[in-house]
Amino acid sequence: MEFFDRPVGGERAILVHLDMRDERQEEDLEEFCLLADSAGVQNIAVVRGSRQRPDPKFFVGSGKVDEIRQLVQEHEADVVLFDHALSPGQERNLERELQCRVIDRTGLILDIFAQRARTYEGNLQVELAQLQHLASRLVRGWTHLERQGGGIGLRGPGETQLETDRRLLKKRLVNLEEKLEKVRQVRAQGRAARQKSAVPTISLVGYTNAGKSTLFNRLTQAGVYEANQLFATLDPTLRRVDLEHYGPVVLADTVGFIRHLPHKLVNAFRATLEETVEADLLLHVVDCASTERDRQIASVDEVLGEVGATAPVLLVYNKLDLLDGREPRIDRDDLGQPVAVWVSARENAGLDLLLTAIAERMAPNRFDGWLLLSAAQGRLRAKLFASGGLLAEEMSEDGGCHIHLRLPRDDLEQMLRREGVALADLQDIPDVSAAPDFDE
Ligand code: GTP
Repeated sequence: MEFFDRPVGGERAILVHLDMRDERQEEDLEEFCLLADSAGVQNIAVVRGSRQRPDPKFFVGSGKVDEIRQLVQEHEADVVLFDHALSPGQERNLERELQCRVIDRTGLILDIFAQRARTYEGNLQVELAQLQHLASRLVRGWTHLERQGGGIGLRGPGETQLETDRRLLKKRLVNLEEKLEKVRQVRAQGRAARQKSAVPTISLVGYTNAGKSTLFNRLTQAGVYEANQLFATLDPTLRRVDLEHYGPVVLADTVGFIRHLPHKLVNAFRATLEETVEADLLLHVVDCASTERDRQIASVDEVLGEVGATAPVLLVYNKLDLLDGREPRIDRDDLGQPVAVWVSARENAGLDLLLTAIAERMAPNRFDGWLLLSAAQGRLRAKLFASGGLLAEEMSEDGGCHIHLRLPRDDLEQMLRREGVALADLQDIPDVSAAPDFDE
């Protein structure tokens, strides 16, 4: 993500990853290292092992605890990261044994969210999830380990809250819920305004590190970025852009997806993913050079299903520069519809093809053409005007008007239906949406 600086050096971390018999608990070591990297820690050693099932007291066996303790001392580690969900008891026992901070997978992911939440709502959501995660761990106090301010797993709520008693914690949770409710209402209004102006939303999704932010920046540079106060100031991950071959859209960036997003964290994400759920098109960005490519695609699809996103998907195979001898291109299905585009965001290669593919995928649902309204249809004219899709207007000889519209076809048909007229009866000069004007 290029919006913030990663801490240089970072805390010294020992990573613990076990192969579990139970497939549902199996995690991917490479992804774990990526997560640790995302959190900004320095990976100084990886401890591996395998277990049938977790040890109730320490999660790992006592031999492993000794091995980790030695490494902690030898490398003067600041923190031990577990690639698994630990119970509050296990976390506490481990901290006592190792005399070092221990963070489990959920805590690690939450820390990354806390660093990356960029919207007010995102911050509130993450703080809520962090406090809920910590609440269970607060029960028996934190006195077994001296806590230092800041650092991984301690960002966000801050030390004072961590030490607050449960009554205050509960109050803070209620307070956060109230704030969130307010923000949600404001957001819903913003969304309603966007829908009214008939500007479609394109959302970038993808596995962590796929290159979403790089592509987001490229696309906002390629298109004419319309400084829209609402988006520019409230949320740097939303941009209103005029895309070549198509027209204005709202482009949304999202936080990176990961495998096995702990279920209780899905809510903490809905804030960023809300745009995704309601998008008109999803650009699924994939690191095409990753050996885990197919698994990463599958996990993103899984999360999309979980948050209820049903929008059509265009795959964007990014980092093409890392594959030898491949040229940017569009893959099409049997009907000739673009399904994937091969690009390199970093090298700025293939973005013209991507813009073409986006326009083609969006066009079927777009009406771009002229209607002829009679003088008596003033109310309909006013509604179309308010939709924000009106491009030009010419008076006709009998007091009516020819209007040039560009907006989602569904919206137009719905508006006309409400007025009791059919699109075919009003259509004037042929609809050009079927033949977009590409300069190829
Ligand atoms: P998350 O924030 O973790 O979700 O990552 P992201 O998907 O937003 O990825 P980001 O844009 O931050 O890029 C991740 C890394 O990939 C950065 O180091 C980029 O410079 C690099 N990268 C992005 N696009 C390309 C590309 O086309 N080719 C190559 N070689 N590297 C790229």
